[in-house]
Amino acid sequence: MNIENTVALVTGANRRIGAALVEALLERGASKVYAAARREGDLGTIPSKTDRRIVPVHLDVTNAAHLARVAGQAGDLQLLFNNAGVLNFGSVLDAPSTAFSQNFDVNFYGLLYATRAFAPALTRNTGAVVNILTLVALASMPSLGVYNASKAAAWSLTQSLRGDFAKRGVKVFSVFPGAVDTDMLKGVEMPKTAPAHVAAEVLAGVEANQEDIFPDPMAKALYAQWTTGHKAIEHQFAAM
Ligand SMILES: NC(=O)c1ccc[n+]([C@@H]2O[C@H](COP(=O)([O-])OP(=O)(O)OC[C@H]3O[C@@H](n4cnc5c(N)ncnc54)[C@H](OP(=O)(O)O)[C@@H]3O)[C@@H](O)[C@H]2O)c1
Repeated sequence: MNIENTVALVTGANRRIGAALVEALLERGASKVYAAARREGDLGTIPSKTDRRIVPVHLDVTNAAHLARVAGQAGDLQLLFNNAGVLNFGSVLDAPSTAFSQNFDVNFYGLLYATRAFAPALTRNTGAVVNILTLVALASMPSLGVYNASKAAAWSLTQSLRGDFAKRGVKVFSVFPGAVDTDMLKGVEMPKTAPAHVAAEVLAGVEANQEDIFPDPMAKALYAQWTTGHKAIEHQFAAM
């Protein structure tokens, strides 16, 4: 799917990977980008925030009224980026139930209900959905156990959506980033990829019609290992 002249919407567009996706979409010639943020008018760190192709929209992905309003506004949508996400650190053995609900509300239900809300427009416009998952959806890192579970569920959901949407001509892409240099991993010392690199790789993957996108060196290397023996990755992550 070509990005040029398409109409896109990015959830969690105000910072880091979301902001980088907005920027990359503009660079590749998108005709309109709905930049969705849960604080009204928040264009955060998007570099080209004065570009006239950006349409700020107020959208908390856990809010059904917001989703209905924005879906009504964005009838021309062709490319939905489910990017909004939250992460709670800690073991599943003692994480509070609020951690589970926060992660599942945004990372799983937010993705589900946003996709449902925009499904009529995506179907009408023969569009695509791009779900920003994570490498740890493939193998769990116990120190991020709650987050991993919500993203693994979102991966399963993504596969179901791909099957369902295929009958309507709507493409579904899964993105599995490794560690990216954003607020989410602030304070975690490890090699991280820049959000702009991730965004560029995501859009290249969409244009190349690559269903599963591994947008950074860590993701590519670990996916290669995972395909040859997933237990080794499970053990490696468990030891971190
Ligand atoms: N960083 C990584 O290493 C990494 C790796 C793999 C996957 N990812 C995924 O990449 C995506 C973007 O994360 P990031 O690294 O850019 O993290 P980030 O800097 O923490 O940004 C998260 C974004 O999601 C938004 N958001 C959170 N809850 C929301 C809600 N209920 N409704 C709408 N927006 C909401 C935030 O908005 P506010 O500014 O209002 O909080 C923010 O714009 C996430 O899905 C994350 O799981 C990140």
